[in-house]
Amino acid sequence: MKVLVIGGGGREHAIIKALKKDGRVSKIYAAPGNGGIKIDAECVPVKATDIAGMTGFAENNSIDYVVVAPDDPLALGMVDALKEKGVRCFGPDKKAARLESSKVFSKNLMKKYNIPTAKYEIFTNSDDACNYIKSDSVVFPIVIKADGLALGKGVIIADNQTQAIDAVFSIMMEKRFGNSGSSIVIEEYLKGPEVTVLAFTDGKTIVPLVSSMDHKTVFDDNKGPNTGGMGAIAPNPHYSDEIAKECEKKIFLPTIRAMQQEGCPFKGCLYFGLMLTDKGPMVIEYNCRFGDPETQAVLPLLQTSLLEIMESVTDETLDSAKIVFSDEKSVCVILASAGYPGNFKTGFPINGLDNIKDVTIYHSGTSNEDNDKLFLTKGGRVLGITAKSSTLELALQKAYKAAEEINFEGKHYRKDIGRY
Ligand code: AMP
Ligand code: GLY
Repeated sequence: MKVLVIGGGGREHAIIKALKKDGRVSKIYAAPGNGGIKIDAECVPVKATDIAGMTGFAENNSIDYVVVAPDDPLALGMVDALKEKGVRCFGPDKKAARLESSKVFSKNLMKKYNIPTAKYEIFTNSDDACNYIKSDSVVFPIVIKADGLALGKGVIIADNQTQAIDAVFSIMMEKRFGNSGSSIVIEEYLKGPEVTVLAFTDGKTIVPLVSSMDHKTVFDDNKGPNTGGMGAIAPNPHYSDEIAKECEKKIFLPTIRAMQQEGCPFKGCLYFGLMLTDKGPMVIEYNCRFGDPETQAVLPLLQTSLLEIMESVTDETLDSAKIVFSDEKSVCVILASAGYPGNFKTGFPINGLDNIKDVTIYHSGTSNEDNDKLFLTKGGRVLGITAKSSTLELALQKAYKAAEEINFEGKHYRKDIGRY
């Protein structure tokens, strides 16, 4: 089979490495891929959001199966376009992708179907939002979210009125996130450990993968601005079997049933961002795709063929799929460029990759223009180092040993992954 993976980060590298384990795969293309992905796939220079370019490439190259990994092509309708051309693919269509691309849609869905989430109000006008912020009913901190996609940065936690009004101003008036901020959600601040659960669903059946924990802020002790994610562990130690059962009953099944009833069944990987509050698990957000870096920690634990599972999602036969995970612990530590998630420099040589043992390296932002062995930094998140072991402690030791041995100018990583 010829498989095309759309995207070019660490998550896509992890997906490609997992797909390659299936003997039926004869060739993998990545669009656009990255320097390190070149080791495992042929990279083609088509932008992930270029729908006409991508469908054209798939048709011209007789691609048998396409995996659409990032949020933006999904939100733009890449899956709809591929299906129209008769290309088999993995990922939700545009209507189902609204679970991530519109927080107004997802919050209203949760309210309508009684899925536990933070209490909220929606505003399409900044005066109304500011009046609400000044009203007595508001207890700080509150959380202000742009409706649409904002590269994971569209969430502002405001501790007081001034911060909240500034946030509304920057999202709705200055349009910091463009049209994504035409509507906003203002919601209750939730406390508790956060859990990510990725789940395969064909619209009718839902199969959760091993749980995980992201580490969103750039610095240790959960300090500094939020990033795409600085590391992950799987499973998440806070996610007990009992909580898992509760989530299945109150969140996972109701969500896919709600999407069915709304006429937009979700097929693909559904990401549940959960907060384990003292009132029970609640949904902080849905993403319509595999998480990054969570996928870099979770997929190495999957013992079943990823391609087989994905095809059973496409064919709506997930109810008879057999999905097996290893019971090892997995850790992914992200090596980032100094300055990320703000401005950073790129083009620095990466040293020490050759002698690395006991870990899997996923490339997030690297280049190797001359196809030689030297990789250069090319992004904010540069590499994901994943290690597995029988205990979390041993997995952490392996990952951190490699994190020390790999070097590039400005290398930054969190030293406290897995300590929460
Ligand atoms: P999101 O982009 O929706 O994943 O939000 C980014 C991060 O903001 C989440 O991972 C949480 O840490 C935090 N967050 C979002 N919503 C809330 C909430 N209602 N209460 C507390 N923290 C939140
Ligand atoms: N790690 C968070 C995300 O993928 O959105």
